[in-house]
Amino acid sequence: MADVKRIQKDLETLRDFSEPGGEGTTRFSYTPAFRAAADYLKAEMAACGLAVREDGVGNLWGLYPGGEPEAAHIISGSHLDTVRCSGYFDGQAGVVCALEAARMLRERQVRLRGGYEVLATAMEEGARFKNLGGSKFVMGVRTEEDLDTLKDDDGIPLRRALREYGLTGTLEGVCRREDPVRAFLEVHMEQGSRLERAGKELGVVQTIFGCRWFLITVEGTTAHPSVPLEERRDAAFAAARLVTRLEEAAAPYRRRAALTVGRMSLYPGQINAIASRAEFSLDFRSGEESCFEELDAVLEREMRRVEEEYRVTVRRELYTYTPPTRCSPEVSAALAGCAERLGCSFLPMDSGAGHDAMVFARHWPVGMLFLPSRGGLTHCPGEWTDYANVARGADVLYEAILQLDAQRP
Ligand code: HGY
Ligand code: MN
Ligand code: MN
Repeated sequence: MADVKRIQKDLETLRDFSEPGGEGTTRFSYTPAFRAAADYLKAEMAACGLAVREDGVGNLWGLYPGGEPEAAHIISGSHLDTVRCSGYFDGQAGVVCALEAARMLRERQVRLRGGYEVLATAMEEGARFKNLGGSKFVMGVRTEEDLDTLKDDDGIPLRRALREYGLTGTLEGVCRREDPVRAFLEVHMEQGSRLERAGKELGVVQTIFGCRWFLITVEGTTAHPSVPLEERRDAAFAAARLVTRLEEAAAPYRRRAALTVGRMSLYPGQINAIASRAEFSLDFRSGEESCFEELDAVLEREMRRVEEEYRVTVRRELYTYTPPTRCSPEVSAALAGCAERLGCSFLPMDSGAGHDAMVFARHWPVGMLFLPSRGGLTHCPGEWTDYANVARGADVLYEAILQLDAQRP
């Protein structure tokens, strides 16, 4: 069985590789904290005999070789970066489970037919560069030009961030979409409270909800706060009205989609100046493509209404979109069967959050295991699942690797 103490040590060590100050864990891609976490993982991968490789965009790969060089590999992992003031399970629990499964293979001297790879990705959270970046480069969705066009909030292009991180800034060997892969398996926190409420140990993910991000800009005119309302082009009031209207319009979708405004700013941002510009983010989630079209139309309609009422202009930029993604029924069934054999209670369920698995699903069969999130908390220091839950995830992952390796189409 997986070693809970080892899992705890990995998680608590990774937890502390964080930007100084602030609460929780903050580890953006290509920062010193990310480098320290990557170096720790490289050492742990090497310690259990994996061949370690850091690719051109900072994804970490650890290979446990198989006996048949031509046999398709099984890959498992998740992301190593975090949002600001995060917990230390989001992404990291999946990386640690993948690593623990490799240790278990090594300790039992298991001879797999195909290789098994442990993967820790970069740029999954959109905290520094566009989200799902590490996996999108592996799938060839992001290419050479993105190295120069993708920039962080300080205007640093990705290529420069990679070079300062110690990489060459080239994509040699990064794209693996043509590689034969038997399955990509990701263990992850549920980031909701369904498992906890149902009293289940694990979730087996069926559909990963799609994720669409917009950046909205409202342009008005700065003026003195003494200017009467009817004479203004007030970007702050216009933006607030647009957000409220979108909240109201999203309510009927509540079982099918979710809308979030996570970031908002005003310019010039003075107490005694009417805002000439308001910028905010929109995050749409849904398991149904049709919902995105419908919500797009709602957004367009409400933008035009607010323009009319406040004499402002409203622009939207589609920042990123990854569609809803079905997990492989064969791989999900294997995960469910392994959970059953190990006596783990589980719940077939969807994922409201986005994951690297939804990107890898473009070319590889994917499966996801969920771990319970206490109180559904995530993206905050209160994020928690018992270490024993993580170990159960590693046990089921280990069994699934053996089963999928043995049973090949
Ligand atoms: O945004 C998400 O769904 C995930 O936390 N990357
Ligand atoms: Mn996350
Ligand atoms: Mn995550």
